[in-house]
Amino acid sequence: MPKDNRPVGLTRMPNGQDAPRTYAIRTFGCQMNEHDSERIAGLLEADGLVPVEGDDSSADVIVLNTCCIRENADNKLYGHLGHLKSLKEQRPGMQIAVAGCLAQKDREAIRERAPHVDAVFGTHNVHRAAELLAQAGTSGPVTEILDATVLEDRDAFPSALPVRRGAGYAAWVTIQIGCDNSCAFCIVPAVRGPEISRPMADVVAEVEGLAAEGVTEVTLLGQNVNSYGRDRAGQPRPLFAPLLRAVGAVEGIRRVRYTSPHPKDFRADTIAAMAETPEVCEHLHLPLQSGSDRVLSAMHRGYTGARYLEKLAAARAALDDLAVTTDIIVGFPGETDAQFADTLEVAAEARFDSAYTFIYSPRPGTEAAEQVDEYVDRAVIGERFDRLCVVIDRSTRLAHESRVGRIEEVVVEGPSRTDAEVTTGRTRQNKLVHFAAPPLRVGTLASVEVTRAGGHSLRGELREVLAAPRHRTRIPVVVA
Ligand code: SAH
Ligand code: SF4
Ligand code: F3S
Repeated sequence: MPKDNRPVGLTRMPNGQDAPRTYAIRTFGCQMNEHDSERIAGLLEADGLVPVEGDDSSADVIVLNTCCIRENADNKLYGHLGHLKSLKEQRPGMQIAVAGCLAQKDREAIRERAPHVDAVFGTHNVHRAAELLAQAGTSGPVTEILDATVLEDRDAFPSALPVRRGAGYAAWVTIQIGCDNSCAFCIVPAVRGPEISRPMADVVAEVEGLAAEGVTEVTLLGQNVNSYGRDRAGQPRPLFAPLLRAVGAVEGIRRVRYTSPHPKDFRADTIAAMAETPEVCEHLHLPLQSGSDRVLSAMHRGYTGARYLEKLAAARAALDDLAVTTDIIVGFPGETDAQFADTLEVAAEARFDSAYTFIYSPRPGTEAAEQVDEYVDRAVIGERFDRLCVVIDRSTRLAHESRVGRIEEVVVEGPSRTDAEVTTGRTRQNKLVHFAAPPLRVGTLASVEVTRAGGHSLRGELREVLAAPRHRTRIPVVVA
């Protein structure tokens, strides 16, 4: 309860009346965080708060759900906190919370650096979001970080929590949390804990519940989805391929996506499940990281460039029209020109539809960050990065050009950001298509002929509306 004993969800207005308190959530990082934000929003709404309208910095409660995968993510957080400090000085009733991976990593240090923060909670305390804010209202600032290694299922998968989903027709579904790998560059295992798979029956039950609410598209989330079930004892052990089939079989689900598979664990059974389950979309996000065998080995990735390409070839042979995207890191400690050239070669051969390219960022506590003597010169990294972008842009353009003339099934995401007359939809291959159309509700299924290829998206013409959405309309959570 706040200091004056009014319920946490109410604020006293200048006219003396109580109005619902408003909240905003700024989300950084990956889909896991976006999904956690939906849970935080659900909890706050269950407590009587309402989403703020308009400028999010006018909210009574602002939650920053943070990421620490690269250094600029840290810097971003402190930039936001600096700005919020002056707002809070003008509006002392305002509450600021910091959640997510950076909170898990930096813990008390966040409030030391930003004492105006009311609540800090970690990746496994999401279910306590509303209680902690209420507690901070009565007894002052609070930090609560659960040790990610001593989790119980209840904390790991708070599936019974209220969720305020961003897009009504699509939903994220957690199948696994944490990660048991030890990629030398990566901080995720330190902030998300060990891998825990969610029971298959729970995943399927959640998808059934979503389908009953009119959701038609689900994205299964895990850091290493192909090892799903590895940590679960008992026979039969749940596995990713049967899970894909089971989720695809849920009545009402039209599209199934998943992220991320790890190349070392991506095998024929998953390819077969994708090929034999029509609901699974023709899109594979398979992070390469590097094309050099030496670098891959130093990263502890568990595959070679050649092995990666073999797996990709197997997937393409079995799956017609497969779009492939990836993640690549440039400038891993010790990366030589020749090793980087291997990355260029593998990337060119892989013909990616698109790639997230990252400059290596040392993360404190990770193995690679210790190799200070091996750090690659910034200018060299910059030059390599540009060369990689040329290779990726070329294959993206070719992939997009190959779509021209095709009729694609798209799901409408809403009006285009730049032109309200234009509608944006997403194809099964996860490509954005912009097309002129009369106003169509978000979630509408339409067929669109692709007429032009752009660098980041496609242009098209509406052919016909195939199906109206089935979900209730909701307002999206803000994603920073
Ligand atoms: N579990 C996923 C990756 C999650 S992190 C997987 O294994 O595929 C998303 C991406 O961030 C990674 O694929 C990697 O390319 C990038 N990344 C992670 N740590 C990084 C670092 N220290 N510097 C630069 N990029 C990094
Ligand atoms: Fe990080 Fe590697 Fe785990 Fe992915 S698989 S989350 S890159 S440690
Ligand atoms: Fe970032 Fe945490 Fe995701 S570090 S990328 S938000 S798992």
